[in-house]
Amino acid sequence: MKNDNTILITGGAGYIGSHTVVELVKAGYHPIIVDDFRNSNKSVIKGLTELIGESPIFYEIDVCDKIALEELFERYSFKGIIHFAAYKAVGESVAEPLKYYRNNILGLVTICELALKYNVHNFVFSSSCTVYGEPKGLKEVSESTPKSEPNSPYGNTKLIGEQLLSDVQKSNKDFKIINLRYFNPVGAHPSSLIGEFPIGKPNNLLPFVTQTAIGKQDSLLVFGNDYPTKDGTCIRDYIHVCDLAEAHVKAMHFLENKSAECLEAVNIGTGQGTSILEVIHLFEKIAGLKLNWQFADRRNGDVIEIYANAEKANQLLNWGAKYTVADAINDAWNWEKKLNEHV
Ligand code: UD1
Repeated sequence: MKNDNTILITGGAGYIGSHTVVELVKAGYHPIIVDDFRNSNKSVIKGLTELIGESPIFYEIDVCDKIALEELFERYSFKGIIHFAAYKAVGESVAEPLKYYRNNILGLVTICELALKYNVHNFVFSSSCTVYGEPKGLKEVSESTPKSEPNSPYGNTKLIGEQLLSDVQKSNKDFKIINLRYFNPVGAHPSSLIGEFPIGKPNNLLPFVTQTAIGKQDSLLVFGNDYPTKDGTCIRDYIHVCDLAEAHVKAMHFLENKSAECLEAVNIGTGQGTSILEVIHLFEKIAGLKLNWQFADRRNGDVIEIYANAEKANQLLNWGAKYTVADAINDAWNWEKKLNEHV
């Protein structure tokens, strides 16, 4: 089918993927979602339909299923690909590394093979600040900060993914790639029509905070209180998911306008570090309630402190975060309350 602005978005029903679909439509693109819903929730389609004014086009396909995917490359003429589909739970990846290597690496190989075969040259990859490992010196990392070992198989799949893309780009100079290194995505769409659907017990901080506040979890455990940080708890760069979604649109736009070869890694964060205790206190202030929480032992593999230098995103993509951490917490809380209305 011919639409000059058609973008393939793998994992487009997921947390970051669904918010990116909204931003793509807003910017005049025509997203085609591939998702097998193993880690997403079908009700996202309803929320997306309300937000974009029509039902999104989606195909229930495993990103490793090359035969099924190839049919889509035959049917559509994609201008670019945004590749989200991957597993992302750090702890699970330690317990089941092969599950992560199979899905995250094989999925990427499959998509790249088809991209090359069908001459789809604009490629945005979901990478992560996990590729930096624990920053050795300055906690504010730029793209040129030397990397140390990622702390998990999940992190390794992101680093290998970037290396794989670099090798592919070297042998195919027409292939243009941006690796977006996300810091900590949080929040939900301000409309509360889409957001995150954690399956089982959430691994990430903010869904655990909101689920504790709503009563789905008894108590939040704060992992570690004796780190060498301002208040003893870990520090992260929490970035609103809508800001992150917009970064994908800007990255795609940049690639389209780039005629020569391109391989870039770009940090997507606010540039501001926030401790776990600061998140809790902000949440309590915004929600107007006391959160049930307690300190627990350090979590294995946690980075102590990391936040983005986001200058490159600003200069290269003309992107900068518009939302604050408080906005993100507010939207995450509204989303949690909305989810609870349907229970
Ligand atoms: C990790 C990965 C990141 C990945 C993300 C996806 C690293 C360094 N980072 O982020 O690349 O994209 O997972 O899931 O591997 N915390 C608690 N209690 C909780 C949950 C979390 O105290 O119940 C703490 C953690 O110990 C950490 C902070 O909150 O210090 C943030 O944790 P989390 O939301 O899980 O994200 P990261 O581990 O930073």
